Amino acid sequence: MGMTRTPLIAGNWKMNLDHLQAVALVQKLHWSLKDAAHEFDSVDVTVFPPFTDLRSVQTLIDADKIPFGLGAQDLSVHDSGAYTGEISGEFLAKLSVGSVIIGHSERREYHAEDDAVVAAKTQAALKHGLVPVICVGETSEDLEKFGASAVPVGQLETALENVPDGAEIVVAYEPVWAIGSGQAATPEQAQDVCQKLREVIRAKLGDDAAASTRVLYGGSVKSGNIASFMREPDIDGALVGGGSLKVDEFSAIVRYGKHVGV
Ligand code: PGA
Repeated sequence: MGMTRTPLIAGNWKMNLDHLQAVALVQKLHWSLKDAAHEFDSVDVTVFPPFTDLRSVQTLIDADKIPFGLGAQDLSVHDSGAYTGEISGEFLAKLSVGSVIIGHSERREYHAEDDAVVAAKTQAALKHGLVPVICVGETSEDLEKFGASAVPVGQLETALENVPDGAEIVVAYEPVWAIGSGQAATPEQAQDVCQKLREVIRAKLGDDAAASTRVLYGGSVKSGNIASFMREPDIDGALVGGGSLKVDEFSAIVRYGKHVGV
């Protein structure tokens, strides 16, 4: 081991906050972290607002030199054309979007995105220079039937097919039963799956990729439990839903290193 992976705290806003609310939240979050003398270099922060907010947030981040990454919540497998309602990775890249969530369980469940779609979207992101944040995780039925790791490991293996060596990716382990439920995985269980996911990265993309790729945990992450996840060797950050919508809570999650105890 001994690699240097900068932790990443990612805020997945889902379908919350219009563009005016988005600008207010990003501004307040920046002030909150500055007030707390947060060392911005020590933890990467990326926000994933709805599409309609991206231009406003990008303009704010540029103008005020706010050191946050900007991400999108989804992208099309296509570059352009007759695909009503879809958003091209090319358009996202033009807005200085740096990363894109792919295969979130809500997309898998409500939009029938299977592993093949997730793999195609991963390719589309890489083609346009976006870092895919590939989400994997088991449902409670999967957990009962197959245990915690079999389903996410299989999902990641498919997503990484045809990903070239050297491509930057992020992987998020999000047990479906933990998302929005208030019932996070235990740090030990999350670590166990994240370690297995890192082995998938090693098998598909090699040792360097296994050492440098950030593997996040997601599912009911809060200021009260983030430190316990971050202590685990194979957990490099968090994908935060509900907890990313409140300034004080998200600011405290980003500053997890300052928390005493759990
Ligand atoms: P949650 O969502 O933090 O609200 O559980 C996490 C996610 O869906 O990415």
